[in-house]
Parts: sequence; C-alpha cells; structure tokens
Amino acid sequence: MFNLTTTDSDGVQGDEDDSFWEMDDIFDENPEEDILELQPREKTEVEDPKEASEASHPEVEGLSSEDSFEIKQNQDDEEEDPASIIVEEPEKKWNRVLLGTTIPDGRPVYWEFGHNGLANRHMLIFGSSGQGKTYAIQCIQCEMVKFRQKSLIIDYTNGFLPDQLEPETNKMVSPKQHVVSNDPLPINPFLPQESDHGGIVIKQSANDVAKRIAGLFNAVYNIGDQQYSVLHRAIMDGVESLKEQMNLEQMLVIIEEMSNDKKFKSSAQTLYNKLRPFVLDKPFSHGKKGFDWETIFQDQDPLCNIFQLVGMDGYTQKLITEFILWDLYGYLQSKGKKTKPKVVILDEVQNLDHQENSPLSKYLREGRKFGLSLMLATQTMSNMKKDEQDRMFNAEHKLFFRPADTELMSFARIAASFTMKSQDDWMKKLSSLKKGECFSIGRALNEKTGQLIQRAEKISITALKDRGFNE
Ligand SMILES: Nc1ncnc2c1ncn2[C@@H]1O[C@H](COP(=O)(O)OP(=O)(O)OP(=O)(O)O)[C@@H](O)[C@H]1O
Ligand SMILES: [Mg+2]
Repeated sequence: MFNLTTTDSDGVQGDEDDSFWEMDDIFDENPEEDILELQPREKTEVEDPKEASEASHPEVEGLSSEDSFEIKQNQDDEEEDPASIIVEEPEKKWNRVLLGTTIPDGRPVYWEFGHNGLANRHMLIFGSSGQGKTYAIQCIQCEMVKFRQKSLIIDYTNGFLPDQLEPETNKMVSPKQHVVSNDPLPINPFLPQESDHGGIVIKQSANDVAKRIAGLFNAVYNIGDQQYSVLHRAIMDGVESLKEQMNLEQMLVIIEEMSNDKKFKSSAQTLYNKLRPFVLDKPFSHGKKGFDWETIFQDQDPLCNIFQLVGMDGYTQKLITEFILWDLYGYLQSKGKKTKPKVVILDEVQNLDHQENSPLSKYLREGRKFGLSLMLATQTMSNMKKDEQDRMFNAEHKLFFRPADTELMSFARIAASFTMKSQDDWMKKLSSLKKGECFSIGRALNEKTGQLIQRAEKISITALKDRGFNE
C-alpha cells in the first residue's frame, strides 16, 4: 500500500485527516497485469495515526506546498518495490525528460523515462481543450531528441499536421508525414500473427484472424451478433482458401456471395453496405509480407514518423488506427525487445477502442515486455468503464491539466478513487490550474537518497523557447 502524504510549507505533515492518503490498490481487479508484480501490494491497513506518521515521510525536503506530495511505500514493502533500487552513481546515467518546474518554487521535474525502476514507460495526459496536452507531447518529443528516441504518431486528430506543429518540433524532431490517403500503408491485416512465448512460437489460426478482425469492425461499427457471425465466417473462409491473397476487397466479395444464401441474406447485405465505404477508401496496399516495422523504430532518421490520416472520415480513421495498432502488436509480440524503447503517441485517445481485447489495452498491460512506451492524451475519461479507466491509470507517469467544467467532477472522482484523497480536494486542485500548468504524478528522483519515489507535484510545462534548444 502506498501512503500518500501532504506537507505544508515547512515540510511538516498536515493534520491527521489531511496528512495520510492511501493509494487505492487499483490492481486488484486485474491480477494478470504486468504492473502487478512491480507495484507494492497492500498488506495491512494502517489505522493507528502514530503508525501512519512513522510510515510516512517525516521531512519532505523541497516540497513546499500542498500541491507537492509524496506517495511513499511502507517499510515492509521495500523488498517488493523495483523503485527502491539505490542509485549509486552520482550522475544520472539514464535518459530523463524535463517536463517543467514546480509551482511556486521552480524546481525541475522530470519523467525518469530511462530508469529501470519504472514499472512501465507509459504517460497519460488528461485535460480539457487548449490546456496544453499536445504542446506537452511536443516538448517531450523535443527533449527526447537529446537521446535520439524514436517515436510514432498515428494522427487521426489533424493535430500533428505540418502547420499545426510548433516550430521547434518541426526543426528538432523533423517528423516524416506518411499521408495514408495518398500512399496506402503496406499492411495486410489478414496475415496470421506470430507470438513468441519464451522461445515457443505460436502462429494464429484462421479462426484467430477472423476473431481479431471481426472484433475490430465490431468495436467501431457495433455490429450485431448475426452480422458478426457472417463477418467471422467470411474472413475465416477467405483466410483458409486464399491464404496471403486474402484482403479487404476479397472480404467484401465473400460477404456479397453470402448475401445470395437465404441463411445469411439480410445480415450479409447490411454488413456489406456498412463495410463497403471503408474498403473503397483503400487504406492498405496489401503485401504478402508483414509491414516493415523495423524501419519505423530503427536507429536512423526520421526520429518521428507520423501516419497521417487527414482527409478521411471518422470511422475510417478509427478503423485504420486500430488496424495499425494490431499490426504493430503482432510485430512486438514476435520481435519487440524489452530493452529498446519504442514510443507510440496517440492524442485524443478517447476515440479509440479501450475494451479488454483491444490493442490499446494490451499495450497498457503488456507493453513493457516489448519496450513499448505509450503517450496517451485525452479530454475525457468519463465515457470509459471502470476497468478501462484502471488500465489508463496504470500509466506510471501522469499529467493532469485542468479538465473541462463538465468533466471536473467526474475526473476528480476518478482521481480521488486512485488516491483516497477527497473528490472536493481534487476539484479544488484541478480547477486552480492555468493553461500550461498540470499535476505531474509519477516516480521522481529523491536527490538525497537516490531513490525513485511516487510524487505528485503542481508544475508548469516549460515553454519550448525556454528549453535552451536554440542556444
Ligand atoms: N506550457 C506552455 N507554454 C507555452 N505555450 C503553451 C503551453 N501549453 C500550451 N501552450 C499554448 O496553448 C496552445 C494550445 O495548447 P494545446 O494545443 O497543447 O492544447 P490541447 O490540450 O492539446 O487542446 P486540444 O484538446 O483541443 O487538442 C498551444 O498551441 C500553445 O500555443
Ligand atoms: Mg491537442
């Protein structure tokens, strides 16, 4: 269990009610998740205030207001906590990303991106329109240029078009735009994926492929059981008979043929009409081989690739994004090395599929195994189910910008449920934020002990022009 303590301006703990926060054990409902092994587990409830006081940090240096607080684990959890690794070298040997400076005392705050004490390298960025989420993403990308970190953006938001990017991003990161409506992606979603299970390689069956693709269309179009069954059958038949020649056009042909069969007639016709516009967009130039993901993440320019989905309708954008994420997942499962970080940026992620079997949820749960780092930004989480919110909150580092007035209460409730701090308190804290300001919640380096500790701090994201890039 984490104790989340607040301190006043003298570094002294606040009064009893306020001083002892418990980090809700959000992982109970997802026992299989990676993070579970890495997070300290709840042992016993600390109810005695004296005990609570001992377990919390007696003196939190440098934390000067209620807007900075530590989330510290109990002594007896120490062995289980990967973040309790003592950093012996005086200089930092891992890659860190400057996020901003604390308010009001101006200490730098970092995302300790390359530290092996992090449970995962995911970043969740939340806040209303115009508060600085996309700007923060670009700041992080520019900082990552220092250690030549590669990234991929799938842009279904028009937020990363060349004229939308900050001048520093264009200059330093020089992202390469792949405009999908001009140049279809060489992805063949019908190829069976392979996964490596500790040296044993398992190849997907036609049934697995059919479930994956039918599930994806279902997530976007919400097709009923009967249409799902027609689609599953069409894909499975196609993959079995056509092998690597199977593609979206063939899928449509098979569905059309099925509509001549009395058994499937009406469902097949409805399904055909639903899927046809997407297939006509020709998003993929199906290759017999898988997409060459190595080139996206290998050590050469461009540092950032953008799959640009501008000019397509919302459904098509969403479908293509899900197909890309699935394809990347296939690559990661067979070839993704834990040691090589791969950053994937998804802005306005509320538009994607967050269900349990979606690629996004797999990335959040298992991404660490493959070296995957997600940077996810969203304006809302109130439309998500509890398990979906939990997965998002698994991101080791979080930036909370000011929510929209309509979101404030529900987000404060979500934040409260993860910190056991009151909803009112979070409402006050979040509504005090100005543009470019946020709460940074994640593992931070305690310079005195060399340990990483959970810390929440109110920060101002340092503007690009103040980051010394032009010096
Ligand atoms: N930390 C900052 N320093 C300087 N300018 C900033 C900062 N944060 C945001 N801005 C300015 O505010 C503008 C809006 O921010 P941004 O586009 O990042 O908002 P957003 O949260 O992504 O909104 P939306 O959800 O609508 O995409 C930026 O284009 C930038 O000019
Ligand atoms: Mg934005």
